[in-house]
Amino acid sequence: MTSTNDLRRGFLDYFARAGHRPVPSAPLVPQNDPTLMFVNAGMVPFKNVFTGLETRPYSTAASSQKCVRAGGKHNDLDNVGYTARHHTFFEMLGNFSFGDYFKERAIELAWTLLTREWGLPADRLTVTVYHTDDEAFALWRKIAGLPEHRVIRIPTTDNFWAMGENGPCGPCSEIFYDHGEHIAGGPPGSPDEDGDRFVEIWNLVFMQYEQTANEITGELPRPSIDTGMGLERIAAVMQGVHDNYDTDTFRALIAASESLTGTRAEGAAKASHRVIADHLRAAGFLVADGVLPANEGRGYVLRRIMRRAMRHAHLLGAAEPLMHRLVPALATEMGVAYPELIRARPLIETTLKQEETQFRRTLDRGLKLLDEATGGMAAGATLPGETAFRLYDTFGFPYDLTEDALRAQGLLVDRAGFDTAMAQQKRAARAAWKGSGARASDELWFDLVEEVGATEFTGYAGEQGEGAVLAIVRDGARVTRAEAGEAVELIVNQTPFYGESGGQIGDAGTATSDGGLVATIEDTHRHLGRLWAHRARIEAGAVAVGDAVRLTVDHARRGAIRANHSATHLLHAALRERLGTHVAQKGSLVAPDRLRFDVSHPAPMTPGELAQVEADVNGQVRANTPVTTRLMTPDDAIAEGAMALFGEKYGDEVRVVSMGTDGGRYSVELCGGTHVAALGDIGLVKIVGEGAVSSGVRRVEALTGEAARAYLNGRDATLREAAAALRTTPDEVPARVAALMEERRRLERELADARKALAMGGSGAGPAGPEQVAGIAFVGQVLDGFEAKGLRGAVDEAKGRLGSGVAAL
Ligand code: ALA
Repeated sequence: MTSTNDLRRGFLDYFARAGHRPVPSAPLVPQNDPTLMFVNAGMVPFKNVFTGLETRPYSTAASSQKCVRAGGKHNDLDNVGYTARHHTFFEMLGNFSFGDYFKERAIELAWTLLTREWGLPADRLTVTVYHTDDEAFALWRKIAGLPEHRVIRIPTTDNFWAMGENGPCGPCSEIFYDHGEHIAGGPPGSPDEDGDRFVEIWNLVFMQYEQTANEITGELPRPSIDTGMGLERIAAVMQGVHDNYDTDTFRALIAASESLTGTRAEGAAKASHRVIADHLRAAGFLVADGVLPANEGRGYVLRRIMRRAMRHAHLLGAAEPLMHRLVPALATEMGVAYPELIRARPLIETTLKQEETQFRRTLDRGLKLLDEATGGMAAGATLPGETAFRLYDTFGFPYDLTEDALRAQGLLVDRAGFDTAMAQQKRAARAAWKGSGARASDELWFDLVEEVGATEFTGYAGEQGEGAVLAIVRDGARVTRAEAGEAVELIVNQTPFYGESGGQIGDAGTATSDGGLVATIEDTHRHLGRLWAHRARIEAGAVAVGDAVRLTVDHARRGAIRANHSATHLLHAALRERLGTHVAQKGSLVAPDRLRFDVSHPAPMTPGELAQVEADVNGQVRANTPVTTRLMTPDDAIAEGAMALFGEKYGDEVRVVSMGTDGGRYSVELCGGTHVAALGDIGLVKIVGEGAVSSGVRRVEALTGEAARAYLNGRDATLREAAAALRTTPDEVPARVAALMEERRRLERELADARKALAMGGSGAGPAGPEQVAGIAFVGQVLDGFEAKGLRGAVDEAKGRLGSGVAAL
């Protein structure tokens, strides 16, 4: 039997021998298309190569691309578990020609691989072509020697493939495998084509055109080839099974869940095991590519996938969280081809465990409510939308989970009712919002967030990305377009820019577009906590709602912010260790050029304490341990000793950032900010100030990295200047200054004595006299240049000589 891993490798080797560059799979989160939720076809990473926007050092390539079809336009989630070939995650094998070869070579390469290399019998294969594509028809006849009735002309869009409303497209030709008469179904184009006998295994797209808004608007620079073959399907064919879930990879994953739950994948349990195996793959790969469960966007799709699997684990009677214990099996099966699974394994495990633990807290109660609600319902009946909403809102049941749970009983869910209940809750939230006081602008942001949803932040992993412009706000009002010279706020669906929060200031950088936009992003902030607004100054070109913009964070500035943020955590930990655990954060500012950290502490810190804290922090920096981030419930995080801000409201889950010695336990904090990868990236931490903010609150100011170096350099320059002025070396400056001070004191003394002597007549005899004035002894003299101190001495002396009388000096 040919294993799935061998097939993948065999495919790539075959095309490499035929001159193709094997290209590793791109991440599941699209890097070049802001409108796409997940990569869902092998050609997605090459989109701009087809259209000529991007060039690569090769003109043919082959890949095995990770794909997810869940959420967004292609959504297979609902069917997974109940059919032979639906998956949320799958791999697409493909070969690509970027203006190199076209139809003839593509057909030849595909046919040779299937029939010669892999030895599939030609009489099991049937192909389709677009009804007007005579060329492809003739080529199949010539190259494969297929009889006319096995080259079927299809007039529908099934044989015209497009990436989406916008992008490359062209007629295509599909190869079907006939699984045999024992399975019901007819060839493509026949009345019973929907049966399962003829299964499409490979799609060859003859990329020729580009379309905009579903209309062909131009030709590609050169005719190209994009092909896609589902690895799971070809594995089934090659392994002599009809069902993807009977291939080696799935059997191994299902065997793992069978053994951990002590149940067999039979009867009612079969779907559950399949759901678990499929969703384990999707969840594992998504987490490995940086997606974490959340209540919005991609993170919510991941959560829906995870929770659906977790309900099935519960259905199988798993008493403990199950999913994370299946990760070793996943890593064994797929880690060879995808090392990211091995690298991210700890993160995948903790994320799954955390999610399942959290979900299990409400799962039982939610299912009980569901049972009660459906108690008297007959098959075909509909669960009220409000009940589905309550399950969502109170028990964390995503809508599709409720649907899935009722599927076995043949019950439906009222989607419209669910949406109404959701809208009602949003209205209530708006009414309860106290806001910033600026009602009018709050309204605007409320409307916007409802309309376009929360912004997805992609900037933990990268500093560049594309976003689709969802709204433009100028002077507090929405506009559809903005031009050079204008200052606006840009709202996009996803952004790598950090929006100011938790003391960390917002990112700055640039936004550009293929249409010629050049904008400077001066700052990024958040409205209602969820909607990111980029404050943009348009330098050139224009931007309109619907545009795709390339967003690039100012790397050096972000790097400095990261360093300052991580240094703040280290400072916090060191202050608590040295001064005591009464030290709590009272505020902070993390800017690119400095950091400020306010803590509760009753007295000024001594220079010794500050020196100690600074030494501790720099010791951590030099140890250069990695900084790790995990997602947890606030309760779990606090139980693990994470420092949280008292009185702060945290969501369902929090990011927990750990760093420093003791395996990262030196500092553990709840934090949504961005941090260095390893502490050595901070470079250096220099405390430059300590003072009072208010009674009982002290402020420590510090610099890191380049700013610290520049600060110390400045100090050094000052010292050198002083040394030069003193005609000595920097090291000798203190001794020289002390000697000078001493000398100055001596000179002052001598000067005073000399002045006195001079004033007293140059002989030291003092003022003349005394003379008698009206019978009273009198001494009088005008003295120039005497200081008060010297004058006092002269008066004493005069008094000595007078005995009794008047002295006027
Ligand atoms: N891009 C083509 C598909 O996804 C090959 O079917």
